[in-house]
Amino acid sequence: ASQIRPKPDPFALVAPQLSRIRDEFVHLLGSAHPGLDDIAKYYFLRPSKQLRPLLILLFSQATNGLGKGWHAKKRTSDQACRDGHAEYLDHSLSRSDVLNDWNPRIPDKTTLFNSGFSLHPPQHHSALHIPSSNSVTSTSLVSPPVILPTQERLAQIVEMVHAASLLHDDVIDESPLRRGTASAPEAFGNKLSVLGGNFVLGRASTALARLGDPEATELIASVIANLVEGEILQMQEVHSAERDTPASPSVVKNAWTIYLQKTYMKTASLMAKGARAAVVLGGCAEGEVYREVAYAYGRNLGIAFQLVDDILDYESADDALGKPGGADLQLGLTTGPALYAWEEYPELGPLIYRKFNQPGDVELARDLVRKSSGVQRTRGLALAYANQARRVLEPLPDSDAKAALEVITERVIKRKS
Ligand code: FPP
Ligand code: MG
Ligand code: MG
Repeated sequence: ASQIRPKPDPFALVAPQLSRIRDEFVHLLGSAHPGLDDIAKYYFLRPSKQLRPLLILLFSQATNGLGKGWHAKKRTSDQACRDGHAEYLDHSLSRSDVLNDWNPRIPDKTTLFNSGFSLHPPQHHSALHIPSSNSVTSTSLVSPPVILPTQERLAQIVEMVHAASLLHDDVIDESPLRRGTASAPEAFGNKLSVLGGNFVLGRASTALARLGDPEATELIASVIANLVEGEILQMQEVHSAERDTPASPSVVKNAWTIYLQKTYMKTASLMAKGARAAVVLGGCAEGEVYREVAYAYGRNLGIAFQLVDDILDYESADDALGKPGGADLQLGLTTGPALYAWEEYPELGPLIYRKFNQPGDVELARDLVRKSSGVQRTRGLALAYANQARRVLEPLPDSDAKAALEVITERVIKRKS
């Protein structure tokens, strides 16, 4: 039946929630200190894609009611959000077992959706796993289930974590532009941007604690660590034992592995674990397939999203992007297009190793990438990940929200900014 229905507009489906989320940032980020207040809210004042909240709200809508724990979660969720936006106590996480990615309960290091990711070169991505639909009935959902207040708050928390990372990112990247206007460090300076980012992260953490769900808390807390890990991985040089000889396949393969791992950490982790946390808040118990579906969708979509971001950095100008184009080579970064180009133009090797830091390196590298099929092949890889994101949705019963999640996998590839 889903084939004959018109495709829903993802934003229209959760428009009231998205606008409420936007309005409430002002309350969640309020501070008596005007300087801090301004910087904390700065990146929320401009229109943004709101992709992460969208994903969380739609996953909630597509899966609520399906999990065994749905009724219990529904009963407790109103109470969990009772805080309003009044005061925020300064309590830090004290659990000694705050989990990270190496804990088996969080599936990053399991083989489930990792196969074809870090263990194989990109041409083998078709080996990615699709969850089985063993615990799923094929009935359609008649009316869209409610989105719980906790899930709406989660969508907001995830956007706050994202904004906090941008406040820091624009310092690290020395970027003057974000969302079509002066970046936070450009407008307020580096010190306030770093402090503002920490403040946003603090408020997000408080809101997260108030959801009262240890597993959702662990998932999002581990994302914050992932974002930093991704950033550190990105700073790593491409290593080769023989710097002056043509790149061996193993050197290129290793560079690809690190690049895709970094891409997961810095972008896809928030989408994967955010979507999974939404399903957890909706009452899906351990072992129910919807959690794995959410994680796999977010992971594949997030990698596709970042691959397209890395293409746009080569293709688009500042005014289309709302941020500086051509930034990656300037920052010394070798992304998908240049990794593919390296296979076709071995002379890129020395430039990659020295992070394009000699006069003329950036220009030469850009020319070689443009002459190569690097951008086109990166687009193909992004498409493969986006298709995979669509395919992993198969176990979900048909609904408008599911159809909207499918639409997002197309839009991520088509986007121009
Ligand atoms: C944007 O990437 C940046 C990220 C996706 C993550 C940045 C993470 C950190 C700076 C670690 C600190 C994290 C927290 C939570 C405080 P980009 O620079 O490639 O994209 P851009 O072109 O949009 O700047
Ligand atoms: Mg960056
Ligand atoms: Mg940046």
